[in-house]
Amino acid sequence: MVSTVSTESSRRKKALTDYSLHHRAQDCIAQGYLTNSKRPQSLVKGVYPTHLTRGQGCYVWDARGKKYIDFITGLGTNLLGYANDTVIAAATNALSKGIVLSLGTPYEIEAAEKLKELFPWVDQTKFLKTGTEACAAAIRIARGKTGRLKVLSEGYHGWSEGFVSLTPPAIGCPSSGSLEFALLKDQPVDSRTAAVIVEPVMTDISAERIAFLKKLREECTKHRAMLIFDEVITGFRTPKYSMSAYFGIEPDIIVLGKAIANGFPLAAVAGKRSVMEGSEYFVSSTYAGCVDALAAARRTMELLQKNYKLDDLWAKGAEFVKDFNSIWPEMIRIDGYPTRGVFAGDPMTKALLFQEACFAGILFGPSFFFNFPLMTEAFSVIGTIRDIVYRIKSGNVTLLGEMPASPFAQKVREQ
Ligand SMILES: Cc1ncc(COP(=O)(O)O)c(C=O)c1O
Repeated sequence: MVSTVSTESSRRKKALTDYSLHHRAQDCIAQGYLTNSKRPQSLVKGVYPTHLTRGQGCYVWDARGKKYIDFITGLGTNLLGYANDTVIAAATNALSKGIVLSLGTPYEIEAAEKLKELFPWVDQTKFLKTGTEACAAAIRIARGKTGRLKVLSEGYHGWSEGFVSLTPPAIGCPSSGSLEFALLKDQPVDSRTAAVIVEPVMTDISAERIAFLKKLREECTKHRAMLIFDEVITGFRTPKYSMSAYFGIEPDIIVLGKAIANGFPLAAVAGKRSVMEGSEYFVSSTYAGCVDALAAARRTMELLQKNYKLDDLWAKGAEFVKDFNSIWPEMIRIDGYPTRGVFAGDPMTKALLFQEACFAGILFGPSFFFNFPLMTEAFSVIGTIRDIVYRIKSGNVTLLGEMPASPFAQKVREQ
């Protein structure tokens, strides 16, 4: 019996672990990865595929051609699904016009005008390529506007020096003191504060969280500090396009990214003219004006206005989370809001569930994201999850890979 189980185990392990790309990556990619939460250590190393070669809708394929239904959605970028035809067509059409031109283009204006339609309180936007850059720009704009240095932070805002210096281990970073960055939980908002930057919701969407944000809004107004909502994740994932609008709390600056161009690299920092042009400042990027991502963003926002309803996504996501959480809530559940969460509960149960889900062609990761194609496809996995849980409860599942380690962004959020 034992030998049958171990033969079965080694057969399954052999079937999935393909390290050829991983070994090549270790050799030529610094640290072996580009994105922290895509490292094999963040998943069940030894069982999960290390690389993917293709995505379509809510499905991805690994290097061996195995297909998975994907609940990571490119870390939340592919809100309308991988390779969305309409977005690709807009981007391709723009690409054929020259990619990066020597002066500004209508594409950036059209994308910024569309953003104003979705975020009526916004007057002006500056586009950048990544959430990290947009958060750094938000801080610069806030410091310029207030003439102050101190920044209070909660949550993850990318890898720039000031933010990373707040999180041990921040190897190679100067101390937080020299950059006047501190954690919001450690210091009050006061007359020295230039900005308070928060992810309005990480996973907690309770009435208490909303009350906390309202109080923070009042404190910032009282001390004339800029309130920055980093909606890189939450943006375009809630009814009304943002947590700020959903809660009715207006920040001074909003940062957007991830889903804004359905996977094309683009981020935005936006606010009222009095803030966005409230002082002289320098923020500049050669590639921010790349026409493909700007055309993709404009088309994605247009589709969200006309064809894809975030209220429907929210409702279906809530249904899925409820179904998932009814299976074995004491041991494994999704914490968060309907379109994004994290898997919480017993770490070993989570690792076993991830492993078996992966064998069954279901890709779960550190964050759970629910996108439009999943609205019709996701519910088919519930029966499989029930079956896996039944087998885990019966003691018939052993861990073949390594326990997943928290990615850096998660560590920041947990501190
Ligand atoms: C809330 C938040 N802000 C900022 C960032 C940084 O964005 P990027 O990875 O595009 O630099 C992230 C990335 O995950 C994020 O989740």
